[in-house]
Amino acid sequence: MVKEVPPDERIEILFRLTSSSSSRVAEPEKTPRDTMAEQIRVLICGTGSGAHALAAVASRNPRFEVRVLTQSANRAQRWTEIMQRERLTMMVRNGKDMRAWKANTFMVTDQPEQAARGCDLIIFAVPAFRHWRYLTSLEPHIEDGCVIVGLPGQNGFEFDVRSALGARLKNCVVMNFDSLPWICRVTEFGRAARISATKDKLVGALEGDLTRAKLKDPLGAIRSLLGKTPELSVSGHLLGITLRSLNAYSHPPIMYSRWKDWNGQALERAPLFYQDIDEETAELLGQISEEVVATSKRIMAQYPQVDLSQVIPMYDWDIGCYGNDIKDKTNLMTALRTNPGYAGIAHPMIQTENGQYVPNFNHRFLAEDVPFGLVVIRGIAEIAGMPTPCMDRVLAWCQEKLGKEYLVGSSLTGKDLSTTRCPQRYGFTTMADILGLNSAQAAAQSR
Ligand SMILES: NC(=O)c1ccc[n+]([C@@H]2O[C@H](COP(=O)([O-])OP(=O)(O)OC[C@H]3O[C@@H](n4cnc5c(N)ncnc54)[C@H](OP(=O)(O)O)[C@@H]3O)[C@@H](O)[C@H]2O)c1
Repeated sequence: MVKEVPPDERIEILFRLTSSSSSRVAEPEKTPRDTMAEQIRVLICGTGSGAHALAAVASRNPRFEVRVLTQSANRAQRWTEIMQRERLTMMVRNGKDMRAWKANTFMVTDQPEQAARGCDLIIFAVPAFRHWRYLTSLEPHIEDGCVIVGLPGQNGFEFDVRSALGARLKNCVVMNFDSLPWICRVTEFGRAARISATKDKLVGALEGDLTRAKLKDPLGAIRSLLGKTPELSVSGHLLGITLRSLNAYSHPPIMYSRWKDWNGQALERAPLFYQDIDEETAELLGQISEEVVATSKRIMAQYPQVDLSQVIPMYDWDIGCYGNDIKDKTNLMTALRTNPGYAGIAHPMIQTENGQYVPNFNHRFLAEDVPFGLVVIRGIAEIAGMPTPCMDRVLAWCQEKLGKEYLVGSSLTGKDLSTTRCPQRYGFTTMADILGLNSAQAAAQSR
């Protein structure tokens, strides 16, 4: 489990762990921007559910100047026009109550240069398959000292950032969190969104030279943006967040368990994604989670300075995130079935002409969470030399449903690997490559 330390001390520890140049915490070279007097310019990438909620929440805090970047000129124009007429309404569940409030106005643009100008924080709240396009369009405009945050970055976020920013990365700070702070949905584009649950806790990691960052305390700034909940805990290596982000190894196995024996007959109703989970599915989830935890332990055994202690069993993750809400904490199955935040979430289905339902295998539970999730973790396990029979069983079924080839026999050499975020796609063949260590650092740190 993550050891809690006071925020200031935490940042210092993180800097010590992640700075490649020296273990001494140097004085910041630039005037920090996160004083109460100065506004923090935050850019939110995306116009989906997470981006609506984030922009709305941030807009209420006068400390922040909020901008939203989309890749769609049409969406930028539509949202801007809507905002001229009315303010975004947020419906937020608090226990049994729903509370409504209005967001303040903010800029929405499809121009990366305008969006990134003077930004202190850039937050990605967009599906992982869009990160690369956002990163490469923003790269020429990202200013030195900017803090780039995946909220969530999903698995392998740091690989994309490293690859897109190249040498410029040394002037930026990268953070990744294991999830979005909320379960949220846009109910009407630009006009209304709903937060149906707020997580108790988010776990993140930070890498980079804080002495170069415009924000002296990026974690404090994000805390101030999000408010009291979720509690943010930031420690360890970014790879820990890649291994801990469990959409990758929860959504695909649940899809596999529910549909592997499906006979092709349409259903009268869409089965519930979490509330219908049975013992066999929960057992599979537990086994895959053990494979991930074992992978992290193997890496830490080889690189004792790399802290991956954020990687914990799925049951512990759920209790950590939703513990206050879960009604029956007996085991993983009951925890998933009795989490009110998950209540009513159905399997992704397509409605047939006669009003019945068939599963949608192109939904992001497979389309995002396999190439940008499960395959990433599987690729790391392969390089770590950790066998993953349960993960492999699920992956073989998923890739068939997606019409892709990632796993061939027991290795990740399929023809569609280049469309994933697995380490092999970036040419990483060793754990040192994955960790971003040069040969001298790898030699000094490995056991
Ligand atoms: N919503 C939740 O409750 C929740 C909870 C936990 C984790 N997450 C994770 O948080 C991240 C963001 O989730 P979200 O719910 O905000 O996503 P979302 O609502 O599905 O985001 C959709 C946005 O992504 C962009 N996009 C571009 N091309 C797209 C395409 N082909 N298909 C779909 N979207 C496309 C669009 O924005 P632009 O064109 O403007 O870029 C679109 O508005 C995801 O990784 C998700 O897995 C979400």
